[in-house]
Amino acid sequence: MEEKSSKELVPLFFGNTANTYDSVVMWATFGKDRYWKNEILTKIENPSSILDLACGTGILTRKLARIFPKSKILGIDISKNYLSVAEKNSLSFPNISFLLCDAENLDFDKKFDCICSSYIPKYCDPKILVKKMVLHLNTGGKIVLHDFTYPKNHLVRMLWNCYFELLNLVGSFTPWKYAFKELPKLVKNSNWTNSYKYELEQYGFDVTLQNLTLNSSAILTAQH
Ligand SMILES: C[S@@+](CC[C@H](N)C(=O)[O-])C[C@H]1O[C@@H](n2cnc3c(N)ncnc32)[C@H](O)[C@@H]1O
Repeated sequence: MEEKSSKELVPLFFGNTANTYDSVVMWATFGKDRYWKNEILTKIENPSSILDLACGTGILTRKLARIFPKSKILGIDISKNYLSVAEKNSLSFPNISFLLCDAENLDFDKKFDCICSSYIPKYCDPKILVKKMVLHLNTGGKIVLHDFTYPKNHLVRMLWNCYFELLNLVGSFTPWKYAFKELPKLVKNSNWTNSYKYELEQYGFDVTLQNLTLNSSAILTAQH
């Protein structure tokens, strides 16, 4: 497959994987996805409104709704089928709504106390996304971004690469074949922690980085 941009990979990864996403993200990360999302929650302090970017099937959105039942939470995603699963699985949460929307084209007439996302950074242009988030954040609000990172340690890198080789092999017979093949390249080529930190600092945010699980993922938190 010719080299595709991260944006072009989105429909290939998420075109027909929505129905199996929740279980795949759980076993493929050895359950760490749950831990990483819980770490995101620890950064957020009782906001009135939350925007969950690239909410997917709504795993993080529902966690937010559970611990902040008084907050109004909007989940947006670019993939229709992921949003359908999110809507179906969130019917019992009156404080959640969903919208089909490209995060890079956010154009709401409302702002949020918190904007968060699990796994969006590597798919977007940091300059564009940070500008959009800043335009939609209330004064004093917080931005919390999480995504995969390429481990730094040599031995961990070897294990990480072997694991993705294995996933690629297993996934080649499933709708996940593009994701399992292209995700490691995307993560290796992404310098999202530095690029988003740089862009957020241009707007005067104090940015803190938390590396997680042998540097295989990270959370960036930004606040003025
Ligand atoms: C790996 S899933 C993560 C879903 C969810 N955040 C979670 O942690 O379970 C990535 C999601 O990003 C969405 N996505 C990618 N680029 C996007 C964009 N520019 N705007 C909105 N959603 C996007 C995809 O459609 C997909 O649902």
